[in-house]
Formats: sequence, C-alpha cells, structure tokens
Amino acid sequence: MRLEGKSALITGSARGIGKAFAQAYVREGATVAIADVNFDAAERTALEIGPGAYAVKLDVTDQASIEAAVKAVEDRTGGLDILINNAALFDLAPIVEISRESYERLFAVNVAGTLFMLQAGARSMIARGKGGKIINMASQAGRRGEALVAVYCATKAAVISLTQSAGLDLIKHRINVNAIAPGVVDGEHWDHVDSLFAKYENRPLGEKKRLVGEGVPYGRMGRAEDLTGMAVFLASDEAEYIVAQTYNVDGGQWMS
Ligand SMILES: NC(=O)c1ccc[n+]([C@@H]2O[C@H](COP(=O)([O-])OP(=O)(O)OC[C@H]3O[C@@H](n4cnc5c(N)ncnc54)[C@H](O)[C@@H]3O)[C@@H](O)[C@H]2O)c1
Repeated sequence: MRLEGKSALITGSARGIGKAFAQAYVREGATVAIADVNFDAAERTALEIGPGAYAVKLDVTDQASIEAAVKAVEDRTGGLDILINNAALFDLAPIVEISRESYERLFAVNVAGTLFMLQAGARSMIARGKGGKIINMASQAGRRGEALVAVYCATKAAVISLTQSAGLDLIKHRINVNAIAPGVVDGEHWDHVDSLFAKYENRPLGEKKRLVGEGVPYGRMGRAEDLTGMAVFLASDEAEYIVAQTYNVDGGQWMS
C-alpha cells in the first residue's frame, strides 16, 4: 500500500471526484477526512467507505471552519500528511450577463478557499516538521478561456498560479504542492454544467455532454476513477521531487 498510515483531508469529498479520491486513498492505507460543506452527505460517504474514512464539517469560505477542520484531523490522527483542495463551484454566463454575486461566490470557494485551506494545511504540516503533500484541483478550464465560462476559467487559472507560488515557497519545508487538471468528468457536477449549456446554447438536455465526450481524443468523458492514479501518485513518496506542477489528466484534450 502506497499511503500506509498517512492522514489525509480532502475538501468537497462527499461526492464526485473527491469521493473517488477518498476511496482510493483508503484502499492505499490512508485515513481520510471527508470534509464537506454538506455534512450529511459527508457522513453518508464516510459510512459507505468504511473505517478508514470519517466526516468533518468544512466550509472553505469560512476561516474558523478551515481551522476547526484541520484541528479535527490533528486531534483524530496526530497530524496532517496529505491535503487535497478539491471543493469548487461552477457557473456559466455570457460576459454581459455575469453577476457580481456569481463572481464573488466562485472566487470565494475556488480561489480563496483553496489558498486559505492550503495555508492552514501548510501551517499544520510545518509545525509538525514532517513535510507533506498538497494537491490542488485545477482544470483544463484554467489552461485557456471559454466564451461562456469566464469566471470559472479565471478561478482555475488562479489555482494553477497559486500551485506554482505555493509549490516554490513550501518545498523548503518538504511540502510538495502540485495540481491535477482534469478535462470533462461525468457526474453530478457535469449534469449541472450540461443544464447551464442547455439554457445558454439552446440545446436539449444531455446534448452538450454527448458532444464534449465525443470531442475527447480518448473517445469518452472522464470518470472520477480515471483521476485516482495521479492523486495517489502525487500523495506518495514517489512524487517527492515533483514541485509546483499541474498535470493534465484529460484523455488527451490539452497538451502543455
Ligand atoms: N467534473 C469535471 O468535469 C471537472 C473538470 C475539471 C475540474 N474539476 C474539478 O474537480 C473538483 C471536483 O469536481 P466534482 O465534479 O467532483 O465536483 P462536485 O460538484 O461533484 O463536488 C464538489 C463538492 O464540493 C463541496 N463544496 C462546495 N462548496 C464547498 C465549500 N464552501 N466548502 C466545502 N465543500 C464545498 C460540495 O458539497 C460537493 O460535495 C473541483 O475542483 C472541480 O472544479 C471537475
């Protein structure tokens, strides 16, 4: 097992990609905090995964909640080894219709949430003196703009940039900060994305999903399980010399 005895916190892991990461980490021997703003769902997920997982209430937009979540992990497991900043929100609108409320909501979760969660995790790891691994969830959306997706794309570009700066600053403490940039991953998140495209591009429900899946060089949309290999690798000792990188795991959609 590649993460034997490690303590991990995964934000937004009550469902979707974060849940698949938690399942994979527990299979590899880690103990995982399912940290989500939806605490009922986090508890159900922890129960489903079994003894290696436990639920923690976390709102990444709230500093007190961030600090309480890190403390809960320290109290339960003795310290934090691995943090995945996975929680994020999506929205979509033409430039002339973007609301300030949508902009602030997405930046609060996707950017400030990632930065201040990363900061709290790093402080805990530095105090313990054993280094650690931090993985941020970026996106292909952070590699370039999209006509209807300006705000989400900007938040994910910011995550790539924060990964570079934090990676360079924290490696002296033997904390590796890296990111994963998925392409299009099927699940409840993309059901929401599909419904927004249906509204703004006047399409039947499901059509956008089908088209994006066909556009992936691999030949289909991603599945959460397609990302777990990279998430386990970046959290493992094998990734010790990898610093400040963002890896595309997207079926060949983007090359950089
Ligand atoms: N699904 C995709 O196609 C795709 C593609 C590229 C990148 N990503 C990224 O991967 C990550 C996971 O995506 P997903 O598809 O599993 O998303 P999802 O919407 O299915 O899950 C997000 C989780 O975050 C939680 N959350 C939301 N706000 C929170 C907050 N303030 N504090 C704590 N938790 C909060 C939600 O309750 C939910 O459980 C995100 O960062 C997303 O941007 C997803």
